[in-house]
Amino acid sequence: MDIKKLIGQLTLEEKAAFCSGADGWHTEAVGRLGIPAVMMTDGPHGLRKVIYGKGSNWGGYGEKITVEATCFPTASCLANSWNVDLLRKVGAAIAKQAKKEQVSIVLGPGINMKRSPTCGRNFEYFSEDPYLAGKLAAAYVNGAQAEGVGTSLKHFAANNQETRRHSCSSEVDMRTLREIYLAAFETVVKEAQPATIMHSYNPINGKQVSQSKWLLNDILREEWGYKGVVISDWNAVNDRVKSLEAGCDLEMPWSYGLRDKAIVEAVRSGELDEKILDRTVERILNLVFSYPADENAPDVDLEKAHEEASKAGDECMVLLKNERNLLPLSSGRPVAVIGAFAKHARYQGGGSSHVNNKYLDDIYELIDKRNGAETFYAEGYRLGKDVNENDPDEALIAEAVETAKKAGRAIIIAGLPDSFESEGADRKNMAMPESHNKLIRRVTAEVKDTVVVLLNGSPVELPWLENTDALLAAYLGGEALGGSITRVLFGDVNPSGKLAETYPVKYEDTPAYLNYPGEEYKVVYAEGVYIGYRYYQKKKMKVAFPFGFGLSYTTFDYSDIKADGDKISVKVTNTGKVAGKEIVQLYVGAVRSRVSRPVKELKRFAKIDLAPGESKTVEFELDDRCFAYWDERTNDWRVDTGDYNVYVGRSSEDTPLCVTLHKVDPKPYIEPIHVNLSLGDLFSKDEYKAVRHDLVYPGLSEEQKKLLGDAELTSDFRFIRARHMWTLRMLIDNGSIDEKQLDKLIAEANRKLGF
Ligand code: BGC
Repeated sequence: MDIKKLIGQLTLEEKAAFCSGADGWHTEAVGRLGIPAVMMTDGPHGLRKVIYGKGSNWGGYGEKITVEATCFPTASCLANSWNVDLLRKVGAAIAKQAKKEQVSIVLGPGINMKRSPTCGRNFEYFSEDPYLAGKLAAAYVNGAQAEGVGTSLKHFAANNQETRRHSCSSEVDMRTLREIYLAAFETVVKEAQPATIMHSYNPINGKQVSQSKWLLNDILREEWGYKGVVISDWNAVNDRVKSLEAGCDLEMPWSYGLRDKAIVEAVRSGELDEKILDRTVERILNLVFSYPADENAPDVDLEKAHEEASKAGDECMVLLKNERNLLPLSSGRPVAVIGAFAKHARYQGGGSSHVNNKYLDDIYELIDKRNGAETFYAEGYRLGKDVNENDPDEALIAEAVETAKKAGRAIIIAGLPDSFESEGADRKNMAMPESHNKLIRRVTAEVKDTVVVLLNGSPVELPWLENTDALLAAYLGGEALGGSITRVLFGDVNPSGKLAETYPVKYEDTPAYLNYPGEEYKVVYAEGVYIGYRYYQKKKMKVAFPFGFGLSYTTFDYSDIKADGDKISVKVTNTGKVAGKEIVQLYVGAVRSRVSRPVKELKRFAKIDLAPGESKTVEFELDDRCFAYWDERTNDWRVDTGDYNVYVGRSSEDTPLCVTLHKVDPKPYIEPIHVNLSLGDLFSKDEYKAVRHDLVYPGLSEEQKKLLGDAELTSDFRFIRARHMWTLRMLIDNGSIDEKQLDKLIAEANRKLGF
């Protein structure tokens, strides 16, 4: 396909029309030139293809119906698997369903960082850690695109709240942006080249992302080498001409032709260089021809896909507590299943990612079947739009307590209902509905053998944790989560998920608490790089469950850490009686650093399968980025000379193995000497060695000179004991040198240093 030639045959109006959707979900077509429209549709954890209904325009309003598809676990749940192969498979499975439905682009995955556990859309995002989120999302994108379906990595960037998501400027310093909020996007772009990237609604540091050339072009394309199409989030464009110039190729959905007209006029008036328009159309046409709709795409068996969703769910369940080895449960004994979620599970989030699934596991039924003995049920709390889901229903709670007592053991299914967590709004706090909390408190007070299962898109406070001996975080596990829960509870599956986010003790403990969701049109990211575990560890805070934590029905021993250059190996042994999977985590922390850095940061991980008694050696290869921070002085990554601890273990807080590596900065940053340079820096930094004596000596008093003699000035010399308190300027105050002389000495020293 000669795309350049095609562009030559398009009229200016046709080219402008390509820059926005033909409707809510399609690109423009030009029949006379054989250019087809392609369809894009949500969403990250299952296909949400809108079929137009009565009164609907682009499918966002009015009556709308979506095709039946498989609802996989949401991103926050999938992330608990820490399994890149699984993510690849889920991406591929969703792509197959897209293909069958003639959909060319799936709008996902979403990889924004979980700055606060209360972001309403956290269920759609992976993690509080950019490395983990980047690796998992890259696998998803690669899996989907290998099936010939494009993806849309979203929402680029620093879109970490739903409150005023169109207008609230994320005020973030450059280092934090690079290390935390852009890093996952960078990984996916470099490792998977998503067909499209969806830019976010918000401004960053006052600049609307849709118009940020710095982000959409300079960083994304020039620095990271992105080749695909940048599309706007739905209705995210302020000024189409400016956004086109900045690098937003495709505005979605459309503006009834108004913005196309603006493009035409801007070209005619000379305000917009037509070359920019041509370059944009070229990218869009490349996309259209790279991901064509395939009328002969094979059919998809949704029943089989349900099995795939089920297998995915099995890897994502996180066992958080299991005192007295309460789990796995034995079958053949009465059990009470409590909580309306048991029959009306919350298994996916609300908003643009909502999937119309054909199949749905019934948690109660599956437990009943597996238990093979009397399985009682009590509603426990009310669900639904017509009730206040927060208020406890005393009668239901009393009934639940009686039911649990009758059975002698209970499984409570509780968590966050739809009304508590959805796209478009943030949670006000981290509390579960009081109706759920009270139910758990009352039942656990009466019946010791009670397991709590959480259905939640993000962390919640657990005020009853002490009373509960077993706790399973099942998250929003998709249409097949009932099966996964049952298999884990009864030990058919050994849980192998670990948290991709911290469970703080209380909302007030969270890093962004004082600055979330900001004041009207600004939200200051005052906590900087300290989000999630980076914050709790630095402040030595107690958390309910740390990042990377999750129990198994077996135990794993860590030993034999070895470093061979940047290759690290460790031995992991299954020391229990059942087979299990372990997520081996590697963190790096600088022993000393010029800038404030987290205690340790996740840099590698691997999920391994071990039979009882079996050992495996896990190898990791590190690179410079594992040790680097973003240096705002040079606008680049930097690894300072020094020692770095490499920790390996079971979670961010449980890293029994450690080895120290030494790194050398091949090109250390040298700051030119100036009057306010501290004497401490002058004498401790090697780069100033050649000039410090010449520079300081003339400024010393006679007495000081005598004291010093011809000796090399050292950092323990009495004059500079106060190190960073004293600066070169102080030499003037010594009375033996004036400003001009000092300036001259500084200029000479700088010349000698090569400035
Ligand atoms: C959401 C996107 C979504 C789009 C289309 C927007 O409101 O932010 O994530 O893909 O709608 O449904």
